[in-house]
Amino acid sequence: MKDDTVAITATINGQTVGITSPPARRLSEVLRDELRLTGTKVGCDAGDCGACTVLLDGEPVCACLTPVAQAAERHVTTVEGLSGDDGLSALQVSFLRHGAAQCGICTPGMLMAATALLTRNPSPTRDQAEEALGGVLCRCTGYQKIITAVCDAATLPPAAPAPVAGFAVGSRLERLDGVPKVSGAEIFGADHVPAGALTVRAVRSPHYRAAFEFGDLNAWQAAHPGIETVLTAAEIPGDNCFGVIPPFADQPALADGRARFRGEAVAVIAGDAVVMASLDLGDFPITWQPEDAALDVPSALAGTPVHSAIADNVLTSGRVVTGDAAQALSHAAHVAEGQFETAYVEHAYIEPEAGAAWIDGDTLVIQVCTQAPYMNRSDVATVLGLAPEKVRIIPTATGGGFGSKLDVTLQPLLGLVALKTGRPCRMVFSRQESLQASTKRHPARMQARIGIDADGKVTGMEFSGDFNTGAYASWGPTVANRVPVHASGPYLTPDYAAVGRAIHTNGPVAGAFRGFGVPQAALLQETLYDDLANAAGLDRLAFRQLNALKDGDRSVCGQQMESVGILESLDALEPRWRDALAAAEAFNATSEVLKRGAGVASCWYGCGNTAMSNPSTIRLGITADGRLVLHQGAVDIGQGSNTVIPQICADALGLPLDQFEFIGGDTALTPDCGKTSGSRQTVVTGNAAALAGRALRETILRQSNMGPESAITLDGSRLAISDGEASREIILTTLPADAHGYVLSAEETYDPPTTPLDENGQGKPYAVYGYGAHLAEIEVDRKLGTVRVLRITAAHDLGRTINPVLAEGQIEGGIAQGLGMALMEEYLPERTENLHNYLIPTVGDMPKIQSILIEKNDPEGPMGAKGLGEHVLIPTAPAILNAIRHATGARIRRLPALPHRVLAAIKEAEETP
Ligand code: FES
Ligand code: FES
Repeated sequence: MKDDTVAITATINGQTVGITSPPARRLSEVLRDELRLTGTKVGCDAGDCGACTVLLDGEPVCACLTPVAQAAERHVTTVEGLSGDDGLSALQVSFLRHGAAQCGICTPGMLMAATALLTRNPSPTRDQAEEALGGVLCRCTGYQKIITAVCDAATLPPAAPAPVAGFAVGSRLERLDGVPKVSGAEIFGADHVPAGALTVRAVRSPHYRAAFEFGDLNAWQAAHPGIETVLTAAEIPGDNCFGVIPPFADQPALADGRARFRGEAVAVIAGDAVVMASLDLGDFPITWQPEDAALDVPSALAGTPVHSAIADNVLTSGRVVTGDAAQALSHAAHVAEGQFETAYVEHAYIEPEAGAAWIDGDTLVIQVCTQAPYMNRSDVATVLGLAPEKVRIIPTATGGGFGSKLDVTLQPLLGLVALKTGRPCRMVFSRQESLQASTKRHPARMQARIGIDADGKVTGMEFSGDFNTGAYASWGPTVANRVPVHASGPYLTPDYAAVGRAIHTNGPVAGAFRGFGVPQAALLQETLYDDLANAAGLDRLAFRQLNALKDGDRSVCGQQMESVGILESLDALEPRWRDALAAAEAFNATSEVLKRGAGVASCWYGCGNTAMSNPSTIRLGITADGRLVLHQGAVDIGQGSNTVIPQICADALGLPLDQFEFIGGDTALTPDCGKTSGSRQTVVTGNAAALAGRALRETILRQSNMGPESAITLDGSRLAISDGEASREIILTTLPADAHGYVLSAEETYDPPTTPLDENGQGKPYAVYGYGAHLAEIEVDRKLGTVRVLRITAAHDLGRTINPVLAEGQIEGGIAQGLGMALMEEYLPERTENLHNYLIPTVGDMPKIQSILIEKNDPEGPMGAKGLGEHVLIPTAPAILNAIRHATGARIRRLPALPHRVLAAIKEAEETP
């Protein structure tokens, strides 16, 4: 035993275990790294997220804050200890049944905190459950289903039977990939450690903008035994430039001589895991020369170019113009105008970026949490000078993404180390690194004017918005182009002129975050709509109903719209709207300090890329021995594509879902299903799955010479096809196998039928849109400026609902993120680089949520389905702001609506005649 270690004995999941370790080492590290109990997750290493919650003698503790010595002679229970010989515990089953796990990264911590509660109190109330789970953060679910699962664990009803052939779509099916999420067996980015793996760390810029030079790296390495290599931009073998939109690629994997944002990687160090864990980079040989940096749009427009090739820092712009907005506004009966400003918002997924890499023959393999394996492959191949086929990306489970894990971060760094050393390696971002290096929601500065006629009908709108895209392009061009298409909201706007610009600064890189700028634009449009309703003397909901787009109307892009469900969404809110207004009025009549209000706001959102090709391809095959295999490469980051896509495919083929085997995203095994973004997977990959299912069905029917209504059954190596009295069979063992080993197969691609936009933004940017509206009921403390959201009623037209449980989960999770954006979230480099200064909603912040699913089937969507993932966040924040104004008169023009801003707005309202 070394001097600095102690030998202890603990009972871990019922087994006596001897541990030799430094006494102060984190219990989480010992569990994960020594005992390989990786079900215990690490999201912050600081006691903020609760992902590492385990039970110590039955009491929940943060394993990241617990020295291992405290476990001596005590009982430790981790998520792996919850299942017994009978299988999953009732609580784990309840989590599955209720859809309480989405990405699953918080699930072990939630389960452990809930287990402690249920041991004391098997039938808790929702309040008791919320209190017990208050220390565990979830970024996906909005907590509703988690609380329901905890409260129902003792009285769980029997599981619904598996859907029969043809009835998978629409069923409240449990996630098909749910069991590993609740058992702790799921492999996330940090959970796989290849044998002999080097640990990789990045050296990052502490400055927003600085030139730099390295000193003697060889001497530094020689002075640090255990360091295998130090690599800089000079060692990058390919083009040190990546980007999610190839024409705009501008980001180096390692900065070369100048860092352009705080936290930018400038070098990587790889070495022995123990050495790397305690490595102090204070003596790393680098000299910085800080330079003037522009952190916001006004200073960037007047300042030094972030990139020498873009003198004015305007990366790009998008516009949509139809009719003559200026003239329409000049003739309007009423015009509302205003400005709005939003903050950087952090994705705050609970899983920091992590992965591993190794060389397999002549192929570089990178296993990593990601939303876009094929795009990752392309970027890594470019940076490392490899053919794309020589790079294999294997997505792990992804512990939340929300847009940010579309961009590469550690992938090229891992690949570089593996290539240069020939050794496997792994990298796990700290929470601070994740916050510094990952993309954010674009801060926006927007202004708009909207006019109406004497009847309250919208006649024209002008909008312009500058979006701070940070130091590199990332998804800035997408935001600049998507915003003008959507800034009208889902309302008929005959005359329209909108411009969006992406502006470079030396701030964090802003990229994709649920909505691509549309949530920011909706804040301005929807708050101005309340002004217009008031000016017209109309009820605010009625004003929106009056102006809602209808089937056959033309959008601001000139697209003739079909299957438009915004009016149905608004109508669905009406009963609650009347009640909410009456309840607020009654409450306010008796309360001076606390005031209640109700607000409504809408959304629309086009699914998939804007006016660009974005195909998905699905492969489906049957082997000679009767295995039915679906190659489904749409990465499931919690939203449910591992369940929804198979549901669609099963019904298209006509075989029961429980006969399928699934091969998930892997660039060596699954065709390209594109990226998980833009609410595209249900629509685009879902359509590819429907096509593949139907194609395989047609092949079977053709080979058996049977009609289209025939039933198909698969029984071992025999396919039986029957229609009334007629029946045939296909003996699979008699058929030759193709290159993939299938005797019957189909591979189909779907690309949404869009058209490019002309110079005025006219065309067909999307094939399918989804719609929705939220009603927020809130309470404001006029003395403190605090806002409590009491209830959100959310109506969403998602076309045919493929899986209601998953759809409700998306809505509840989107509302949580919208609430955070409205009231608390603002990423400030240096000041909020952890999860105790960057606040996201906890279970205690969440209101009661009622989801209303409206099914206006889309003729283009698979089985009529539309997308939902980004729509669900868009209306929440403007509905909350409109409710604050209803309660107090306060007009918020800058997010987040922190108490000091609410108080200032109340004061302004009181002083305004
Ligand atoms: S990892 Fe322990 S609280 Fe976040
Ligand atoms: S399911 Fe809770 S963080 Fe993803």
